[in-house]
Amino acid sequence: VPGPTPRELLPRLRELQQDPLEFLLELARRYGPFVRLPVPGLHVFSIAQPDAVKHVLQDNARNYSKRTLQFTNLALVTGQGLLTSDGEFWLRQRRMAQPAFHRQRIAGFGGAMTGAALRMLERWKAKQDGVLDLDHEMMEMTLEVVGLTLFSSDFSAAAKRMVEATLTALDHVIHKAQNPFGPPAWVPTARNRRFRQALGVLDRAVYRLIEERRARGQPHGDLLSMLLEARDDEGQPMTLRQLRDELITVIIAGHETVASALTWTWHLLAQHPQAEATLHAELAQVLGGRTPTMEDLPRLPYTRAVFEESLRLYPPAWLITRRATGPDTVGGYPIPKGSLLVLSPYITHRQAEAWPEPEAFRPERFLEDARPPRYAYVPFGGGPRLCIGNTFALVEGQLILATVAQHYRLRPADAKPVEAAPLVTIRPKGGLWVRLERR
Ligand code: HEM
Repeated sequence: VPGPTPRELLPRLRELQQDPLEFLLELARRYGPFVRLPVPGLHVFSIAQPDAVKHVLQDNARNYSKRTLQFTNLALVTGQGLLTSDGEFWLRQRRMAQPAFHRQRIAGFGGAMTGAALRMLERWKAKQDGVLDLDHEMMEMTLEVVGLTLFSSDFSAAAKRMVEATLTALDHVIHKAQNPFGPPAWVPTARNRRFRQALGVLDRAVYRLIEERRARGQPHGDLLSMLLEARDDEGQPMTLRQLRDELITVIIAGHETVASALTWTWHLLAQHPQAEATLHAELAQVLGGRTPTMEDLPRLPYTRAVFEESLRLYPPAWLITRRATGPDTVGGYPIPKGSLLVLSPYITHRQAEAWPEPEAFRPERFLEDARPPRYAYVPFGGGPRLCIGNTFALVEGQLILATVAQHYRLRPADAKPVEAAPLVTIRPKGGLWVRLERR
């Protein structure tokens, strides 16, 4: 398998830690889309070739588990939620949760999505100098969307406490990911104690919310009530612990990802006035200043293409890892049992065979007829573990884009080039500072 020798890799480990996106991209440029990394005692492969990605995520998905550092760290917070569980347990949960993410259900969330966007626009009106950090704004707005879709009118003080505790706990996980050689979670360091405390606050808040909802017994049409009503093949509901894990998973998986996608969309539009003008023309023609609903989306193909092209260049979930539970052959190369596979949509989305001039922002790529081969575009993963919230995310992204772009143009507020920092998702380093221009 092509790849660097240990002597070539060693001096570059710092780079791997500081700028993993550029590091992985450079490896793919030099060695191709199938690279072996010589890590002592471990077989590590970085795979970006679409057919090989398809093989791992779909064709032979059963041979791969989520028992990797990425997901075991996250599981400290999300437990056995959909994102971090495996096997039969995962399958049962997936089947139970699936109906809640059906397109028809998501139509009911459209109002929560545009409502959060309109409230943000109200806040912007009050802004004197018109300069703000868009990264922060998008995070706040998508958090409100997740809160409202999970808890509807119950998204009050208690739910907010729970969401905040989730984010605090997640911060610790990020710290762990950045310091992989630090003490494990069970060692009573000050940081680990704070982490335990955050988890305690989180658990109490979630369990109280669930109990209150159960006691009231009111169907609300929100995600929480759908998960409460879900039954497995034997007619059994989720346990309290499972409900907790899934609620926290949705907050983590469904908040920062959409925020990151929207932030980069604004960044790209500000850099590409032609694309921005085409977007504005479509919105004016179809909506004429009206707040969009989900029914409008089929008539907004360019809006969708802008969002999809942004997900190509800056896929929020830039890292997908898997562990081989048995030996396999991928792309003609042997993969020993226990191997760690690194699949980065960021790299796959820059493969020149599928994407001519991959660095160029060209929404046209996603218009009719021109769609790319399926596994050359994997912002939501693929196969059985395909993002359960992908329709949710696409609808939310388009509705918010259409709502905000009708009122504002966002221009860079400082001349510094924007750098991409890959953490949980890809975020602009130091935020994305923009100047608001009313349209
Ligand atoms: C899984 C990306 C939005 C919930 C995934 C995976 C990816 C992804 C790549 C697969 C991970 C893997 O195979 O290891 C994204 C992106 C989003 C987004 C880029 C936004 C642009 C959402 C939203 C929700 C959500 C809005 C919920 C409301 C989930 C869940 C899983 C998941 C629960 C685990 C599914 C399973 O394994 O059964 N997401 N996601 N995601 N996502 Fe999303």
